Amino acid sequence: MKDWLSLLACPVLRHPLKKANGELAPETNSSPAITYPILDEVPWLFPDPKHTLHEWRERSLALLNHLDGEIGDLKASASETESHLAKTRIENLRLLKIRHFEFLKKTLEPLKPSKVGQKGALEKSRAFGYRLPLRQGLLGYFPNLIRDWSAHFEDENRISFAAVKDLIPSDAETVLVLGAGGSRLAYDVAKAHPTTTVIAFDLNPILLFAAHSLNRGKSAQAAEFSVSPKDPSRPGQIVTLEAKLGSAPNLHFVFGDVYHLPFAAESFDVCLTPWLVDILPRSVDCLLAGISQVLKPAGRWVNFGSFRFDFSDTAENIGHDELTERCLKFGFSQLTRQQLEIPYLQSPFDAHRRFETVSLGAWDKTGNTENVIPTPIDDRAVWIQNSKLPIPALPVFQSSSATHAVMALVLSLVDGQKSLGEIALIVAAEHGMSEDDALEATASFFDRFLNDRRFREFT
Ligand SMILES: C[S@@+](CC[C@H](N)C(=O)[O-])C[C@H]1O[C@@H](n2cnc3c(N)ncnc32)[C@H](O)[C@@H]1O
Repeated sequence: MKDWLSLLACPVLRHPLKKANGELAPETNSSPAITYPILDEVPWLFPDPKHTLHEWRERSLALLNHLDGEIGDLKASASETESHLAKTRIENLRLLKIRHFEFLKKTLEPLKPSKVGQKGALEKSRAFGYRLPLRQGLLGYFPNLIRDWSAHFEDENRISFAAVKDLIPSDAETVLVLGAGGSRLAYDVAKAHPTTTVIAFDLNPILLFAAHSLNRGKSAQAAEFSVSPKDPSRPGQIVTLEAKLGSAPNLHFVFGDVYHLPFAAESFDVCLTPWLVDILPRSVDCLLAGISQVLKPAGRWVNFGSFRFDFSDTAENIGHDELTERCLKFGFSQLTRQQLEIPYLQSPFDAHRRFETVSLGAWDKTGNTENVIPTPIDDRAVWIQNSKLPIPALPVFQSSSATHAVMALVLSLVDGQKSLGEIALIVAAEHGMSEDDALEATASFFDRFLNDRRFREFT
C-alpha cells in the first residue's frame, strides 16, 4: 500500500512535503518558510496554516462559549417555571445541550481552543491572501455526522454506498474523497477496498476529528437534535456514534480547502465528491481544474449528491449536460450519469421526511489535460489585493458607516447602570433625533441584537 504521506504536497506551490519535528514542511525551501501542523495525526494543509488554525480556534471557542451560555440560560429558565412538565422538558433540553457541549469540546480538543483565552483580533492573513470560506460554519453539517455513525441511519448509509460502489474500480490504489464531512462514505469505500489508500478531505474540524476518532475505534455519545420532533417535549436524543465494522487502517484524514488541493499531481485513481459540487461558492470549473490535476491519467471523478446551483451569475447555474460539456475542457469524458431518489436525514424521531433526487455520475480523465492549470484563487476586491489602490466610495459603505456609528455608540453606552430611556436620550442628542424616535430605534436595536439570527449565528 502506498505511503499515504507521499501523496501530500504543499497547497500553494505543490512541493512535496516531508515530516520534521511533528510537522510537515516543503522538501524545497519556500519563502516565506512555512510549516504545516499535524493535529492528532491529521495534517492541517491550508494555504495559510497559522491563520486558519487561529481562526478555527476562535470559532470553536465562540461556539463553546455560546453553548455554555445557553446551558446556563436553560438552568435559569427551568428554575423559574412553575409547571413540573415544563421544568422536565427544559431540563431534558439542558442535559442534551450539556452532552452536545461535551462532545464538541472533546472533539475539538486537538485544536486546543481552550488555550486561546483572550479575545484578540484575528491575525491578518499574510501569505497568499488566503482566508477560510466564510459560509462554512462549524455546525453546518453536524446532522450529517450523526447520520453517518448512528445505527438508526444505517439504511441511508447503505443506500449511498450502494450507489457509488460499482463506480470505484477494484484495482484503485488511491481514492480521494473531497468534502468528506462525517466521512462515512470514505470509510465504507476503505472497508470495501482494504488495500486502497483512501483520504477523507474536508475543512471542518468537528467533522474530520470526530470521524478520525471513530475510525480509531472510539465510540462517542452525541446529541441528535430533531428538525421537527415527533414528540415536541423531546427536542432530541443522545445517540451512540461508532464505526460498527471496526477501524479502517487504510483511511486517512487531511484538512484543507478544495480550491487549494494539497496533493501531488496525478496521484489518485479516483476522486469522489459526495454532496459537494453545488454547495461551493465558485464556478464548478475551479473544482474540476483541481480534480483533474490530482487525478492520474485515466483516473476517474465520481460525483454523487444534490445538483442545484444557486449563483447570482445565472451562467453558473448549470444543468447536467452543461457539466459534461465543461468536463471536456478538463480532460474528462462521461462514463455514466443517472438520477436516483434516496431518503435524506430521515431520523425515526423526526416528523420531518425528506427525499432527494440526487445525481450520480462518473467521468474518466481520458483527454488532454496539459492546459489544465488551476490558477491561484484570490477573489478579493482588487483594492484589497493591492493596498495602494483607492477604496471606492461604494454606497454600501456610506450607509453602513452611519448604521455602525449608531450601533457602536449604543453598545458603548451599556454600563450595567443606564436604562434604555437614558441611552435613548444620549442617542437623540448625538444624532439629532427626536426623543421618541431615538427610544423606538434603541429599543428595536436591542431587541434585534438579542434575537436576530444574524447577530447570534456565529457557529
Ligand atoms: C453538504 S456537505 C457533505 C458532507 C458529506 N460528503 C456528506 O455527504 O454528508 C459538504 C462538505 O463539504 C465541506 N466543504 C465545504 N467547502 C469546502 C472547501 N472549500 N474545502 C473542503 N471542504 C469543504 C463541508 O465542510 C462539508 O463537510
